[in-house]
Amino acid sequence: MTQHAYSILTLHFSLFPLRLALWRYMRNGSNIPSIFAQTVKRHPNKPALIYEATGETWTFTQLDELSNAVAHWARDQGWVSGDVVALFMESRPLQVALWLGLAKVGVEAALINFSLRCEPLLHCVGVSGSRAIVFGSELADAMSEVAFPSSQPMVRFCTGDVSEDVLSDLSAQHLDPLLASASKHPLPPCNPPKGMNDRLFYIYTSGTTGLPKAAIVVHSRYYRIAAFGYFAFRMRPDDILYDCLPLYHSAGNIIGVGQCLIQGLTVVVKRKFSASRFWEDCIKYNCTVVQYIGEICRYLLSQPVRPSERDHKVRLAIGNGLRPSVWEAFTERFRIAQIGEFYGATECNCSIANMDGKVGACGFNSRILPNVYPIRLVSVDEDTMELVRDSRGLCVPCRPGEPGLLVGRINQQDPLRRFDGYANQDATKKKIAHNVFKKNDTAYLSGDVLVMDDLGYMYFRDRSGDTYRWRGENVSTTEVEGILSGLLGQTDVAVYGVSVPDVEGKAGMAAIADPSESFDCNSFLQSIQRALPSYARPVFLRISPHVDTTGTFKIQKTRLQREGFDPRLTTDQIYFLNPRAARYEPMDEDLYNTIMESRMSL
Ligand SMILES: *[C@@H]1O[C@H](CO)[C@@H](O)[C@H](O)[C@H]1NC(C)=O
Ligand SMILES: *[C@@H]1O[C@H](CO)[C@@H](O)[C@H](O)[C@H]1NC(C)=O
Ligand SMILES: *[C@@H]1O[C@H](CO)[C@@H](O)[C@H](O)[C@H]1NC(C)=O
Ligand SMILES: *[C@@H]1O[C@H](CO)[C@@H](O)[C@H](O)[C@H]1NC(C)=O
Ligand SMILES: *[C@@H]1O[C@H](CO)[C@@H](O)[C@H](O)[C@H]1NC(C)=O
Ligand SMILES: *[C@@H]1O[C@H](CO)[C@@H](O)[C@H](O)[C@H]1NC(C)=O
Repeated sequence: MTQHAYSILTLHFSLFPLRLALWRYMRNGSNIPSIFAQTVKRHPNKPALIYEATGETWTFTQLDELSNAVAHWARDQGWVSGDVVALFMESRPLQVALWLGLAKVGVEAALINFSLRCEPLLHCVGVSGSRAIVFGSELADAMSEVAFPSSQPMVRFCTGDVSEDVLSDLSAQHLDPLLASASKHPLPPCNPPKGMNDRLFYIYTSGTTGLPKAAIVVHSRYYRIAAFGYFAFRMRPDDILYDCLPLYHSAGNIIGVGQCLIQGLTVVVKRKFSASRFWEDCIKYNCTVVQYIGEICRYLLSQPVRPSERDHKVRLAIGNGLRPSVWEAFTERFRIAQIGEFYGATECNCSIANMDGKVGACGFNSRILPNVYPIRLVSVDEDTMELVRDSRGLCVPCRPGEPGLLVGRINQQDPLRRFDGYANQDATKKKIAHNVFKKNDTAYLSGDVLVMDDLGYMYFRDRSGDTYRWRGENVSTTEVEGILSGLLGQTDVAVYGVSVPDVEGKAGMAAIADPSESFDCNSFLQSIQRALPSYARPVFLRISPHVDTTGTFKIQKTRLQREGFDPRLTTDQIYFLNPRAARYEPMDEDLYNTIMESRMSL
């Protein structure tokens, strides 16, 4: 508990400089490239990135020039602000120079997981809408296995050692000579300019039903996550960080590389994590900070004991998912003074766990010292997101296991409260609630619904309606919506799960907009059977003159969900997929009662 209390205190006092700086950057039109330019000015000749695989070092000036070359090359390709380019390569400093250089001309990188092959690879590149793909020569085989659709013509570039034959087989150009001959001079800021709220790049999170989803990272999110790690764990400008996490991912590219671009730390980029080389690398490069994810700690602990594991200068390990059961074994055996578990907090929006799609705790708040770090879960009506108030007009704290809105108390004495008001008054007002913990106080509304367990660990709650479970499988409503809508010529479709008595999970239901009122369910069923696995096929259909897909879509969906398949609650026609007959049958009161009384198997 002391460890936790300590971390919570650290968080509490460390957010001030972050918020102040972010506020300034927001106001004066900064973005990640302009913040990096200031870092370069501070120490042009300090090593910025070191590539462990080759030992090569890029100083801040060299990294800046390399990214300028990328920017010139990108502009020469005719790419403009808002275009997307996919990056598909194992971790290397050039990957940083690529997305940074693209950002200098407003082009957004889609950071593709280098372990993907075939379908998922096509999918990720496809959904990004990329105009081009840059791949590492080590992934030439993976590239040759996929056929990008001709509807999405993509220019291809390859970086690394590659033969002319391979290049011509893949119709790719060799990027390295193009960059070597490009100008290294800075370009004028991109037009239209990109600010802190604009898109920087895309990171993919694992989807619930398989295919990864692209998450937008805006400039301010990059800044917040990186700066949060720096301030919360008291990193120092002379720290050297060992980054062995993949750069297509937020942990490696933001928490790790962000310390270089924003705070000016030297970062050692490891091509791929290696448990046996870990501590020797740290010694070789004088690393003082390492990054981990839970599995890395386990792999390191399972290695044979070697002297290097205690001979290093590593002071701090930051990451996510260090189990309480191995925490002490880890710190004692490897002589690590400080563990920085990246807890979610209002200021960082728990965005780490969220973006990674990690199922598990995304934060921690001590239940014993709840006032030290004043975030709390309070009851909320999930349909309207209105706070639930008790008889005194105060918010109702959630008990363990009860989902609630994450709120952070605003301290009256905290000078930040004033500028919170200025930054964007309207938006700020919506984010502030009064009389939350006690009379006359104010609190910040995160907009996120979480659940806390008995120990105080916090978990993201599935946003209601996003997924449901059926026959032991997780069904993603947005994916099914996409597929059904595609089958119906992009008609509006809303998919949700509905409860059926005595049946585990939720049965899928699709509300389909059909103004013509001539919908043929059973010919539609044939298309569904080809397009969806059996567990994802809607058990119920509801045909409506229109489905509201505007801003109130979510609310509409909860209403649809509440009405379920009860034919008495709507004039819309409802159908039931009779599994024996393998056809949709119109719902009437008799059929409804048969299902409600469990006399019909689904
Ligand atoms: C924006 O504000 C930051 C922080 O005060 C400052 O360092 C930077 O020079 C400013 N940038 C511009 C473009 O004014
Ligand atoms: C990257 O892809 C591999 C292979 O599909 C997968 O096992 C891994 O979980 C992915 N990593 C992330 C962070 O999504
Ligand atoms: C953090 O949450 C606030 C409130 O939900 C939102 O306005 C802001 O855009 C979020 N920032 C990031 C970086 O996600
Ligand atoms: C590591 O530190 C030692 C002693 O301070 C120094 O001699 C050595 O050059 C450093 N190594 C690197 C790679 O910077
Ligand atoms: C809350 O504010 C009102 C008006 O400013 C004041 O009359 C009241 O005494 C305050 N209540 C508390 C508990 O501070
Ligand atoms: C479905 O999601 C739950 C957590 O939400 C997870 O524990 C389970 O393994 C998932 N099942 C499948 C089949 O992916």
